[in-house]
Formats: sequence, C-alpha cells, structure tokens
Amino acid sequence: MRPDYDIAWQMTDAPDASVTVSGDTTGMSHLVVPGEIDTSHGLILYLENISVSFDGFRALNDLSLSIKTDELRCIIGPNGAGKTTMMDVVTGKTRPDTGRAFLGQTLDLTRLDEPAIAQAGVGRKFQKPTVFEHHSVWENLELACAGDKRWFRALWAILTPAMRRRIEEVLALTHLERQARVLAAQLSHGQKQRLEIGMLLMQQPQLLLLDEPAAGMTDEETAQLAELLNRLRGHCSMMVVEHDMAFVASLAGDTGLVTVMAEGRVLAEGTLDAVQRDERVIESYLGR
Ligand SMILES: Nc1ncnc2c1ncn2[C@@H]1O[C@H](COP(=O)(O)OP(=O)(O)OP(=O)(O)O)[C@@H](O)[C@H]1O
Ligand SMILES: [Mg+2]
Repeated sequence: MRPDYDIAWQMTDAPDASVTVSGDTTGMSHLVVPGEIDTSHGLILYLENISVSFDGFRALNDLSLSIKTDELRCIIGPNGAGKTTMMDVVTGKTRPDTGRAFLGQTLDLTRLDEPAIAQAGVGRKFQKPTVFEHHSVWENLELACAGDKRWFRALWAILTPAMRRRIEEVLALTHLERQARVLAAQLSHGQKQRLEIGMLLMQQPQLLLLDEPAAGMTDEETAQLAELLNRLRGHCSMMVVEHDMAFVASLAGDTGLVTVMAEGRVLAEGTLDAVQRDERVIESYLGR
C-alpha cells in the first residue's frame, strides 16, 4: 500500500511546532516530533515519478524508488544512468522538475533546502574525503557534531559526557580507536574515508547516501569499508551507489535488494543474483 502523503504534516508548513499531528487514510493519526522522521509506514525514502532535465536532456526520467527503514540498498547502473542526480534530488542539491520525494512519511524533500535536509537526518558521503587534515581524528569527530557555524569554537567547548561517549562509539564503529590522536593528514585513503563516514555518523543520520565510496581504494580498504557499512546496519538506512560488483556483493549478500538504474529510471530491482541474470541488465550494463 502506498503511503498517503497528501494530508500529512509537512515540516516547511510548521517549522516552529514542537509536536503536531498527521493523519492517514485509515483515520489513524500519529504524533510527529520535528527532528524525528515518521517512518510508521516502514519507508525512510520515497521517490515517485521524479524527472530532472538539463537543457532538455532527461537525466532522471519518471524515476520511482523507495527504501525501507534500516535497509542497505545498493544502486548500480551504467555511467550517465542518473545515480548521482538521484542523490542530488534527495539532498536538495537539485530540484526535480516533476515528481514527489519524501523522507519518511511526512518530510517533503522538494520543499526543503540542503541544510534543512541534512538537519532532518540525511548524510551524504562524497567521493573525495573532506576531513580537517590539520586536526586529529578525535578533533575531526568533535568538529563534526558542532554544525557548520560554530565549528571554530567547538574545539574549545567542554565536551559533554554524552558527546564523549558518542565519539568513542564512532571510533569503535569505524575501527579508528588507535588513530584517535593521529592527525587526519597522516591517515591512509581508506582510513580517511572511514573518518569521513564517522563524521557523518556524529550527526546521527537516519539515511546515509554514499556515492561510489570504494572508488580509488585498495582491495583491503574496500573490504574494510564493506565491513564498516555492514556494521552500520541498524544504526541508519543506507543507499550505496557503486560500480565494484564484488563490493556490492559483500553489501547485498544473498537476500539484499539491488536497484539497477539506466536512462534515468529503474531498470530492474531484485537480489544481486536475480538482477545479474536479468536480460535487460546484461544488455544495458553488465555486458555479455
Ligand atoms: N549539472 C548538469 N548539467 C548538465 N547535465 C548533467 C548535469 N548533471 C548530470 N548531467 C547529465 O545527466 C546524466 C546523468 O548523470 P549522473 O551523474 O547522474 O549519472 P551517474 O549514473 O551518476 O553516472 P556515473 O556512473 O558516471 O557517476 C549524464 O548524462 C550527465 O552528463
Ligand atoms: Mg555518478
């Protein structure tokens, strides 16, 4: 059943409300606290009939896609399929020409700007790690929870016990405990990538978007990244765009859903094994 979004409360309509109520077609209503995402229908992301054109060229062409809460979804597809553009729509970097995009049940992503979407719980990892090279791993994590404007004060602020615990937890998750006092500049490429994911985790995202995170990594670094993302299951939902099929296999396993995009829309969706045997996918992406 498709969630009913038309009568749902929308963040842009009531930014100051502390608690408000949304309804659905069944007549039930549930409390929605701003800052928390209403996933009562089990979806963290819902894209419907999204189209984006650049100078008349349709980068996204009637794309519909949804991600369940706590899912780790891999997205594959040929160059130019629209994978990055789709992430741009989710993060508010690109506005769709048509279609609907919701975070959870009620947050209309097409009506929020990039900072508001990040604030609402969407973290995005870009290919090139953007860490503070002249600060230690620990300081990078401290800076990451400060938000953009207060970062310069963050290092002098007193760490709350909760924040300290969070940093320790993230160091453990990213396997960077032993590097806590090491300058970020001295980390390997793979460690920097893990630190950047750790910095995103400091914001406690509900949905993490990763665009080709294994690009430029050694096999060992790629395996460590796959382990990390598998450890993050249950902490947040994830959408991972990747061309490296061994990496995709280590994330999707035998039962995880893999979405194949081509020409701006979903070409196929299923287990990795099923999509790899799909004639259309072989034709357009994997080759014979
Ligand atoms: N800002 C833009 N202006 C014009 N065309 C764009 C823009 N962004 C993307 N495109 C075009 O839209 C199409 C989809 O691009 P996109 O980067 O989303 O593909 P992708 O699936 O991420 O590909 P890749 O696997 O190579 O990263 C491409 O043909 C690209 O050239
Ligand atoms: Mg791309």
